Amino acid sequence: MKKTLLTGDRPTGPLHLGHYVGSLKNRVLLQAQYDTYIMIADMQALTDHADKPDWIKKNVLEVVKDYLSVGIDPTCAKIFIQSQIPQLAELTMIFLNLVSVARLERNPTTKAEIQQKGYQDSVPAGFLCYPVSQAADIALFQASCVPVGDDQMPIIEVTNEIIRRFNHYYGSGCFIECEAITSSTSRLMGIDGQAKASKSLGNAIFLSDSAEVVKNKVMQMYTDPTHLKVSDPGNVEGNMVFHYLDAFHANKDEVADLKAHYQRGGLGDVTIKKILIETLNTLLSPIRERRAALTDQICLEILQSGTEKAQHTALQMMKNVHALMGISYFKS
Ligand code: TRP
Repeated sequence: MKKTLLTGDRPTGPLHLGHYVGSLKNRVLLQAQYDTYIMIADMQALTDHADKPDWIKKNVLEVVKDYLSVGIDPTCAKIFIQSQIPQLAELTMIFLNLVSVARLERNPTTKAEIQQKGYQDSVPAGFLCYPVSQAADIALFQASCVPVGDDQMPIIEVTNEIIRRFNHYYGSGCFIECEAITSSTSRLMGIDGQAKASKSLGNAIFLSDSAEVVKNKVMQMYTDPTHLKVSDPGNVEGNMVFHYLDAFHANKDEVADLKAHYQRGGLGDVTIKKILIETLNTLLSPIRERRAALTDQICLEILQSGTEKAQHTALQMMKNVHALMGISYFKS
């Protein structure tokens, strides 16, 4: 029996290169080896966008297109929509009793997001608790492998704490602990030099960006502000062009040579930016081509089929949970 892999994304906009290196690439590599579930987390998206369900819905198909265009194969990966699996909400209710509010408030990922979103004293309860719902996503499908960016590590930790407590209270017949799979570039920085590429910060290159847009974004990239003349020695640390070359260029020796040349002086920003543009377009052009061949109808059919399979698993698992906890009353 194959082990299970589960991961997902909030449909709050198109996926970007940070998602690609942090998680999508791993999913494509691992999808055939595992029983793979990929979830579009529309309920989680509501935790910080409660006023915009139509906008979330619109983004769902875009995310499916991103998945398929990078090579997620719907014949082995079940792509499904979180809101269509009510058992996830039920399991979240059970899990909420297995973690303290103080523990959730200490989570560095949600803490940073709360600050970034300016929630201060008005954090939606659902937002504070989304790691609990994420624990339910992972547990209900018995996932042992969760490919995610490193910002998700604290959530995986809480997930395992909840699973351990569940198993301690009710028995270990249902849920297994999971492991996060991160990549060597598990956090891609923004083109502006900020710590994280993100759509909300407006500093990301999207998988669906045209060649022209990619060129413009690379041309605006933050390099070394003290590197004024081509002949000046330049810094490669904190220089986004080199950060992206490290993440995406296939030839590490060539990147090492470019770095040495830049540090000595004599290598201009425009030259390295042109190399990066070419590197990124080599990666993105087959992705763009696959995307162009996808219709909304194809994506919907794939989603429906994946969701039906996920519903089947979820229903079965929840029956086991009821039996384990002894919360069944009537003969069916
Ligand atoms: N929190 C994840 C993100 O923002 C999305 C997500 C929801 C997820 N449920 C999950 C990831 C379960 C892995 C496993 O990207």
